[in-house]
Amino acid sequence: MSGTRRYAVCGLSARGLASFVLPVLGLTDRTADGGFGYGSDEDDLSGYAEVVAIVDTDADRVAEFNQALERLGRAPIPFYPRTAYDEMLERVGPDAVIVTSPDHTHEEYIVGALRRDVDVITEKPMVSTAAAARAVLAAERESGGTVQVSHNFRYPAAHREVKRLIQSGVIGRITRVVMDYHVDLRHGASYFLRWNRRRALSGGLQVHKSSHHFDLLNWWIGSAPEEIFGYGALNYYGPGSPHRSDRRADDPYFLAQQGSGVFPADDGVRAGLFGLHYPGQYPASRPLYLYDAEIDIEDTYSAIARYPGGASLTYSVDFSSTWEGYRVSIGGTHGSIELRHGRTVDGTALPDSGQITVAELFGPARVLEIVPEEGGHGGADPLMRRDLFAGPSPESTELGLMATSTEAAYAVAMGDALTQSITTHTPVNLPALLGLTTLHLEG
Ligand SMILES: NC(=O)c1ccc[n+]([C@@H]2O[C@H](COP(=O)([O-])OP(=O)(O)OC[C@H]3O[C@@H](n4cnc5c(N)ncnc54)[C@H](O)[C@@H]3O)[C@@H](O)[C@H]2O)c1
Repeated sequence: MSGTRRYAVCGLSARGLASFVLPVLGLTDRTADGGFGYGSDEDDLSGYAEVVAIVDTDADRVAEFNQALERLGRAPIPFYPRTAYDEMLERVGPDAVIVTSPDHTHEEYIVGALRRDVDVITEKPMVSTAAAARAVLAAERESGGTVQVSHNFRYPAAHREVKRLIQSGVIGRITRVVMDYHVDLRHGASYFLRWNRRRALSGGLQVHKSSHHFDLLNWWIGSAPEEIFGYGALNYYGPGSPHRSDRRADDPYFLAQQGSGVFPADDGVRAGLFGLHYPGQYPASRPLYLYDAEIDIEDTYSAIARYPGGASLTYSVDFSSTWEGYRVSIGGTHGSIELRHGRTVDGTALPDSGQITVAELFGPARVLEIVPEEGGHGGADPLMRRDLFAGPSPESTELGLMATSTEAAYAVAMGDALTQSITTHTPVNLPALLGLTTLHLEG
């Protein structure tokens, strides 16, 4: 192929496959033989990019994927174990790496690529700790390579509309933001049956999940907080759960999601998206339960943060809720914006889901109905992929849609600092945590 950029993928994850590898291979037909197809025709990125190597710790998982490719008449993709990452960079010489491995491994791949002046696209969270974010920012300053972070939560139509409204000045200077976020009991339980449940691997949900929310809120506010404080606890999962049962047949979380694929099969063999197995990450000999003692993260937490100029943020999330979605209220000196998005556990949209109410302080209020676009995460993923692989659209440039490494570092640091605050009961200064002297965010 000519004219395409050559990418090495680190971590053949569910996200890596669905969001990057299959679109780049042009495998976008969901009805295709073998079940390997994701997205739609507009998602076909094969004219822009090719995958020249896969780095993973699980040779068997990559081999299973390569066998599937061969059945589809495609060439297998060269595999490199994690220990041969540097050798891969040297021998294959990719234009860029795509980092889609577990969060705690991102730093190694990002910094390794930057040291060789290779560009990076990384999944959120950019890294799993504030210290690692600092290391990435330092490596990028010394490098000819750049880091782009796939903060796709900026991209849904409703979120872009809120940004446009704020930019229009209709609510004036932002004074106060409240986000009440709910992850339902099915989706929430899934985090506690995967690697995310260990803080050393994910940074806790404060980093792994809330980095999405913190990045969105900072992007809307146009700044990052100076200080954050919070409380949190493990209320639903782990050994102390009030729902703990010794027999799987009595487990209310299991009963609530039979057939959803969230729980591993009874034989403990774990298959994920596209039926690909995880023999390395989830060996059948080590089945995972929702009530395991190794769960060391919080499933409920609340935070308050202060931004330069005086705006404050109140944020709260629960990972075993009766509904999935959020309510956001943004107050300004001249009005307010409210956004609601949600569905019940059985998938029924809440009555006011998708509505934005804009009210001027001394003027009228109007309700905007936002229709979600086609594609993953409410149409966010295909738009973001276009930006990353084909270059930013005029709208992306105008709204500053593509997250920079500094912005992504703040999203990670907010999560890490919140965890510190939960432990120490003291507020944490964010620029200090990142070793930055200014809150200025480029982009
Ligand atoms: N933007 C989004 O909406 C979104 C959604 C889901 C996941 N993610 C992110 O995508 C990434 C992957 O998450 P997932 O849940 O899809 O992962 P996953 O559990 O499906 O897969 C992880 C893969 O990484 C491999 N791996 C483990 N350790 C490794 C290492 N040291 N080096 C290389 N490979 C290694 C595993 O063998 C496996 O193939 C994470 O960073 C996650 O936070 C983002």
